[in-house]
Amino acid sequence: MTDIQLQPTQKQLQGTMSVPGDKSISHRSVIFSGLAEGTSHITNFLTGEDCLRTVEAFREMGVRIDQQDDRLTVYGRGIQGLKEPSSPLNFGNSGTTARLMSGILAGLPLFTTAFGDASLSKRPMDRVVVPLKQMGADITGRDENRLLPLAFRGRKLEGTVHELTVRSAQVKSALLLAGMLADGETKVVELGQTRNHTEMLLPEFGVNLNVEGAAITIEGGQQPQASDIKIPGDISSAAFFIVAASIVPGSDLIIKDVGLNATRDGIIQAMKKMGADIETDIHTYIGREPVGDVRVRSSRLKALQLDGELIPNLIDEIPIIALAATQAEGTTVIKDAEELKFKETDRIEAVVTTLTKLGAEVEATEDGMVIHGGASLTGGSVHSYGDHRIGMMGAVASLISAEPVTIQDKDCINISYPSFFEHLNEVLR
Ligand code: S3P
Repeated sequence: MTDIQLQPTQKQLQGTMSVPGDKSISHRSVIFSGLAEGTSHITNFLTGEDCLRTVEAFREMGVRIDQQDDRLTVYGRGIQGLKEPSSPLNFGNSGTTARLMSGILAGLPLFTTAFGDASLSKRPMDRVVVPLKQMGADITGRDENRLLPLAFRGRKLEGTVHELTVRSAQVKSALLLAGMLADGETKVVELGQTRNHTEMLLPEFGVNLNVEGAAITIEGGQQPQASDIKIPGDISSAAFFIVAASIVPGSDLIIKDVGLNATRDGIIQAMKKMGADIETDIHTYIGREPVGDVRVRSSRLKALQLDGELIPNLIDEIPIIALAATQAEGTTVIKDAEELKFKETDRIEAVVTTLTKLGAEVEATEDGMVIHGGASLTGGSVHSYGDHRIGMMGAVASLISAEPVTIQDKDCINISYPSFFEHLNEVLR
């Protein structure tokens, strides 16, 4: 486990940068092209550890995938061409791999077992296992099928209506993929809007689905066809630089080609409500995904209340928004965010402990946190909790801390942003 000590700096964030490809879309691009017939080319693929777990899973199922830097060529042989892996699939730290692949493994005529690292092995899998069983899936796992490792004795599933009880794009996507392999029609009714990359990207592979408000319907027995996909920059990675440029006085930063999907732009909405100086310009669509440049200039921030429908739209950005809130005027309250407890670590606890150690005043609540603004961060030594987004939050905090910030176990940042420190150094001037 490697630590990093970040010294206080007088520098600002200046210039133009790009962030790596979107994590959610990268996973989906490999899954859909791995199931497809024909050769797909993927560019600006996120080569973080999580997405490479999905690549490995398809390789284990006999799909040839060539990688050259951030470009993948996937030689799909169709759903029927997938072979049974001879050893257990390792999903590492990746919740998206675990949930989405479960939807597929349940519905293929193969026997597979899958496991994850210590963090993933604690995260709930019953949210996909229970509805998949309603479709006829044969899945067994640890702790009454609630936790990895899981074993899938794949079989033909029956299309079913699912009324979701969690707000989760991973669960929605797993059930839509299972529905694509099943007999008949599958309908997934969401509890609230979550990221819609599955619905946006599947049609690029020739798969039809019908979206009507909160209900998404997919007809079973559809075979995806190869497609060429360019992945937009990840707004969740851009978020660290959006907040950094907002809170480091004198900054003026342009982040190019960021995915600005309306189900993912909550960070921009929230920061603007806090008084951040952010301009976005959607200049192109990659497939159906809007892409644009984001310009951020530092500004004085004010507190806000974050809750309800906006939460799923910025769930991964709450750690870095919490850091921004320590610098705002007034008290920020975050509610309806209990899902944070089921991420790579319990992010309510991790954010509160980390920011408190760095000199901020933050309290945990049942479903969120209360952050008192106007803090002068002192610095100190904090743990990443093995969670990439907590590690990056600590690194951004160092830019406004009086003393050095040490981040213990910084390597987890490779999960979603292997070039994070390089990019940060490049824009600090
Ligand atoms: C993701 C959905 C979100 C998000 C995760 C990626 C996805 O999880 O936190 O980082 O790619 O579908 P939930 O859908 O479980 O909230």
